[in-house]
Amino acid sequence: MPRRERGRVVATEAVGPYTLLRVERGRLDPGRPGQFFMLEAPGRLLPRPMSLCVAPAGELGFLIDPIGPATRVLCSLAAGDELHVLGPLGNGFRLDVARPLLVGGGIGVAPFPYLAEALGGPPALLGFRSEWHAAAADLVPNAEVVLEPTYVTEAVPGGFDVLACGPEPMLEAVRALEPAAQLAWEAPMACGYGACYGCAVEIHGALRRLCVEGPVLEAA
Ligand SMILES: Cc1cc2nc3c(=O)[nH]c(=O)nc-3n(C[C@H](O)[C@H](O)[C@H](O)COP(=O)(O)OP(=O)(O)OC[C@H]3O[C@@H](n4cnc5c(N)ncnc54)[C@H](O)[C@@H]3O)c2cc1C
Ligand code: FES
Repeated sequence: MPRRERGRVVATEAVGPYTLLRVERGRLDPGRPGQFFMLEAPGRLLPRPMSLCVAPAGELGFLIDPIGPATRVLCSLAAGDELHVLGPLGNGFRLDVARPLLVGGGIGVAPFPYLAEALGGPPALLGFRSEWHAAAADLVPNAEVVLEPTYVTEAVPGGFDVLACGPEPMLEAVRALEPAAQLAWEAPMACGYGACYGCAVEIHGALRRLCVEGPVLEAA
């Protein structure tokens, strides 16, 4: 069950251009890999959705790309600061797969450390724009890194159950290659639990709330 709690920051760690924000877990359930939490950046009006990245005992860890005002505030938090955390929310990845392969790009690798742990360390194919960004691959066991100008989708072998997270063009390319893949999508989210309709996207020809139906959807 999702809960909203005020948690204390345990630590922050730089991972290339990203920040791993580690927060006290309190009574929050880490949920299923691919589910997300709404993090309230102090001083910002609306919370922001973040996938759970790691779940060591007593903590929840989020890998954050500082691309805008709220993510920059979240990345600037320090040990001892407090923030509200709501979750787990949405539908995560199905784990009943025979030959999993994780395919990710950029900050899309955020849910993979927790997912890889749940699946027993499957192979992962991760694409980044530079060596600096590829520091995030160190969080994912059995990861093969692909750097631009080669795209990760050029290296996906056949015969695997693909679980993917990354930018929309990457997910569209994975969908074309692997119609049975599970894809974690993004949309701007204001509430995270179905109340605001801010995350409505077209799913199988109809407008639906990604926070309720997803963020993980079957490709086909
Ligand atoms: C389910 C889910 C899980 C996510 N997990 C992570 C994660 O683990 N780590 C991480 O760094 N980010 C994650 N994100 C994206 C993150 O929520 C956004 O980057 C963040 O909300 C941006 O807030 P901001 O105020 O910093 O920037 P803003 O000023 O709000 O946005 C900066 C730019 O990004 C665009 N943008 C903002 N949010 C989204 C979005 N959700 N989808 C597409 N474009 C967007 C804006 O249009 C704008 O161009 C996730 C998003 C979703 C929906
Ligand atoms: S984020 Fe509010 S309905 Fe999905």
